[in-house]
Amino acid sequence: MSVFSSNVFTGKHALVTGATGGIGYETAKVLTAMGADVTITGRKEDVLNQLKGDIQSEQPYAKVVSVVADLAEASDREKLVQTAQEKLGPISLLVNSAGISGGSVVEELTQDVLERIMHLNYTVPIMLSQQIYKTMKENQEGAIVNVSSLSGLRGTYAGTAYVGSKFALNGFTQSFALEAIEHNVRVNAVCPGYVDTEMGRDGIRRKGERENRSFEEQFETESRNLPSGRISTPKEVANTIAFLLSDAAENIVGEAVKISGGSVMR
Ligand SMILES: NC(=O)c1ccc[n+]([C@@H]2O[C@H](COP(=O)([O-])OP(=O)(O)OC[C@H]3O[C@@H](n4cnc5c(N)ncnc54)[C@H](OP(=O)(O)O)[C@@H]3O)[C@@H](O)[C@H]2O)c1
Repeated sequence: MSVFSSNVFTGKHALVTGATGGIGYETAKVLTAMGADVTITGRKEDVLNQLKGDIQSEQPYAKVVSVVADLAEASDREKLVQTAQEKLGPISLLVNSAGISGGSVVEELTQDVLERIMHLNYTVPIMLSQQIYKTMKENQEGAIVNVSSLSGLRGTYAGTAYVGSKFALNGFTQSFALEAIEHNVRVNAVCPGYVDTEMGRDGIRRKGERENRSFEEQFETESRNLPSGRISTPKEVANTIAFLLSDAAENIVGEAVKISGGSVMR
């Protein structure tokens, strides 16, 4: 098969969380360009409307359902999956991209912040996957990609909360992958380094403040320090997600695929 052709996901329904953010937004566009119908979700209704318009202008035949939901709330997650499946049928592709960064050095970390980050980055993808897995298992078909991070593979300064949540997400990916593959459902993760999105730029800004550099100087430093010489784009992460969801990745199971410009090599 040709990995990025326009009919790879024809007849498939993909749910993309974090679709109002940099990575989820591009992922929804890439998946629809590959033939999928999509349900997009986030809390920002205006951005969801903009994305829906973007997709429909590029892919007039794509079906797009947009659902405003706060994924931290179980009732919103229920409503999301129910609406999505009522409108577009069984979900067979799931991208767990919603996430938050933040936290601080351990001395200043509050339990509240720690629990909020763990909840959204770890508990929520599990509970959402659990809801959709029911249908995938019945149909013996599905693929899930969790958007993790290089921070799920090694510690970072002041990263206890975020890093812990992404290590945990990688652990979930591996364990669930072993259960789900028996039912022809593949579970994988992507682990990007800095990506040029609001979250990525915010991380670079905070690091710059610690190192007495402006945002522009820090962005330049981070780019220069990467073997590839540049930070990843959201589209590059979206392409990797699309590949992992496709049958071209049929025997890739429980992986954490790094997108690091060569900065981490094992
Ligand atoms: N950017 C990077 O450098 C980078 C690197 C490695 C991994 N990642 C991971 O990539 C994923 C996407 O990040 P991004 O770069 O696209 O960040 P982003 O632009 O900040 O987007 C974050 C997304 O998460 C959603 N979200 C946050 N809290 C939510 C909630 N309570 N309910 C529903 N949605 C919520 C946001 O939606 P609303 O604001 O509309 O609620 C938004 O769509 C995250 O899991 C992040 O950890 C990012």
